[in-house]
Amino acid sequence: MDKIVIKGGRRLKGKVKIVGAKNAVLPVMTACLLCRGVSVIENVPRLRDVTTMGKVLERLGARVKFEGDTLQVDTSGINSHEAPYELVRTMRASIYVLGPLLAAQGKARVSLPGGCAWGPRPVDLHIRAMRELGADLEIEHGYILGKAGKLKGATIRFSMSSVGATANTMMAACRASGTTVIGNAAKEPEIIALAEFLNRMGARIKGAGTETIEIEGVRKLSAADYRIIPDRIETGTYMVAGAITAGDIQIEDCVPEHVDALTRKLIQCGIKIETGKHSIRVKGKRRIDSVDMVTAPYPGFATDMQAQFMALMAVARGNSIISESIFKDRFSHVPELRRMGAKIKIEANTAHVGYVRRLSGAPVMATDLRASAALVLAGLIADGETHISRVYHIDRGYEAIERKLGNLGARVERVPE
Ligand code: EPZ
Repeated sequence: MDKIVIKGGRRLKGKVKIVGAKNAVLPVMTACLLCRGVSVIENVPRLRDVTTMGKVLERLGARVKFEGDTLQVDTSGINSHEAPYELVRTMRASIYVLGPLLAAQGKARVSLPGGCAWGPRPVDLHIRAMRELGADLEIEHGYILGKAGKLKGATIRFSMSSVGATANTMMAACRASGTTVIGNAAKEPEIIALAEFLNRMGARIKGAGTETIEIEGVRKLSAADYRIIPDRIETGTYMVAGAITAGDIQIEDCVPEHVDALTRKLIQCGIKIETGKHSIRVKGKRRIDSVDMVTAPYPGFATDMQAQFMALMAVARGNSIISESIFKDRFSHVPELRRMGAKIKIEANTAHVGYVRRLSGAPVMATDLRASAALVLAGLIADGETHISRVYHIDRGYEAIERKLGNLGARVERVPE
């Protein structure tokens, strides 16, 4: 296992290019299971989660080829309907095969995903939606066992906004007979991207990006080509890197409107932000003001940016109240930030973040993808060295983070643990 060693204190300057969105490419990869043929997906990031999803598809009989940032997914040889525990437990998004398998093969045996560092991650909304589309699902020995004749369109209203459940339902409904209407659908850009890809395959989806998505089932879907949208969470992470180091970073190949909520918060902190069509310039400053923040479904403040923003608030003047409304206790980064001197008190789903003039470098441990990003950001401005172990968590969602930060002037290296 590797670790990342950061010597803090450098103001980051220069340009950084954003890669394709992890949370868009994962459902697009599973959507390929809805047809037999070769789909070509461009602007795919080199991430552990993408490799893992490739293994899940290969276990189902697909052939996955990665050349540069282009992924070829050949599903002509699909010969299984099983997503095994040893793969699903490493990546919750494997659950995205459930809808496509039921729609395309009429059966599925998918391991229940485990929890994660910050607690249980149920899939009850996925299961309920599949049943409403006519599938028979049983839970046995940690697996979801599904059988379905032809799925039937239904009107499904989610009790809470769920990206995964919306994605799974959209994919399953594409090949159901009749029309499906999803109420309280997730509005994330990744849902719009998935709908775009499915429509290129021949699906008939309207309303992606709004609360109500309508899917008219079709008999057949075909392979398609698609270019993945930029990763808004990688974008936000580098925006905070520019802010926290009082640097001056030009972020390129991004979609500014996808990070509107973060931009507004950073401006309230006193950070200068200039947005172009596909770029954002972030000019940090030494003493920033703290602001309160509540995470919310898109277009609200992304829960996947909560840990990174907390690292920034740890060195912002005043007190910041950060409420995590999407996941229960998504605060595994807090004990590690405290080891670096941050003043953070947790009450239920709210963090009260005080001010410290300087964080201090320390050996810390990554526990999940976005918590690790927060530790990297804290290390960039901490006094001395920060050693972040279990860096495989970072590799799940950030491509070549030490190279990109190094190119911006950070003193960061990856060393074997
Ligand atoms: C997606 O996870 C993202 N993952 C997460 O990003 C992101 O944090 C999350 O959406 C919220 O934006 C991918 O896209 C691969 P949800 P997902 O279903 O779909 C509850 C990252 O860092 N819920 O929108 O699993 C759930 O517990 C990852 O890239 C149920 O109760 O999230 C949560 O409280 C981390 N039952 C809320 O809904 C269900 O069946 C929203 O979760 C499903 C979800």
